[in-house]
Amino acid sequence: MEVVRMSAALGCEIRGIDLRLPLTDAQIAGIKAAFLEHGVLVVRGQQLDEAGFIRFSRYIGEEESYKSTLSAYLRPGYPQIQVLSNMVEDGKPLGVKDAGQYWHTDRSYVPAPAWASVLYSLRIPHDASGKPLGDTVFSNCVMALEALPASERERLSKLSAWHEYVFRFSKANDSLPGLAHPVIIRHPLSGKEILYVNAGFTHRINELPEAEGKALLDSLYAHVANERFLYRHSWKVGDVLIWDNYSTQHLASSDYGPDQPRMMWRTVVKGFPIE
Ligand code: SIN
Repeated sequence: MEVVRMSAALGCEIRGIDLRLPLTDAQIAGIKAAFLEHGVLVVRGQQLDEAGFIRFSRYIGEEESYKSTLSAYLRPGYPQIQVLSNMVEDGKPLGVKDAGQYWHTDRSYVPAPAWASVLYSLRIPHDASGKPLGDTVFSNCVMALEALPASERERLSKLSAWHEYVFRFSKANDSLPGLAHPVIIRHPLSGKEILYVNAGFTHRINELPEAEGKALLDSLYAHVANERFLYRHSWKVGDVLIWDNYSTQHLASSDYGPDQPRMMWRTVVKGFPIE
């Protein structure tokens, strides 16, 4: 098994494994260590059924059941797998369309946000020249924090921000009332400090007047999206990719149309309370 770095900022590829077969303890330990170090990990060229995909997710941790969270377009018989797709068959959508087309970390609006999310690509859109579309872009939020001046980090360390699902989707959801997290959190496993605000789900800075908090958040969102912190994943069919929802943020590109089919399976691995 070989670990190959994907960009200066984050991301690695694991080569030399076939996920149709159970991995050895040493391989699992190697994958977990590489994932924690690089924030995004991809294994290319896989051919998985639902059980194989769930087995891979479980190497990282126990998956959440979408039934207890936001249930739509689940694989029949597999409440852990959600289908993301713009495809329609007999007038019925096959998956969640347009998922994640804004900077966010998954489920930052709950006390123990998802630790990891896993995607398996089944259909990837292309342009007329064959270039893949629908890239997913990731930002390293440990690096983004480290790049801020010490005085700014000191200021941010005293602030907290409100995260809420309703912010993006403008519909009340009583089971997801929102909550505050520190603007700088510590990674529950690596102990590293992370800039933890995202344009998708963060509303406001609790300790600042609204306009001042909004200006600060907008400047932090622009900072996180700076090219030097990014890895852009250009998908191929058969990619299995995991990202760390604490140390990274991500954005799904919306550069393809309804006649350019995209389909992914997705699982979410349970997280830890943020402190
Ligand atoms: C997501 O944000 O979970 C979806 C990412 C993607 O489909 O590229």
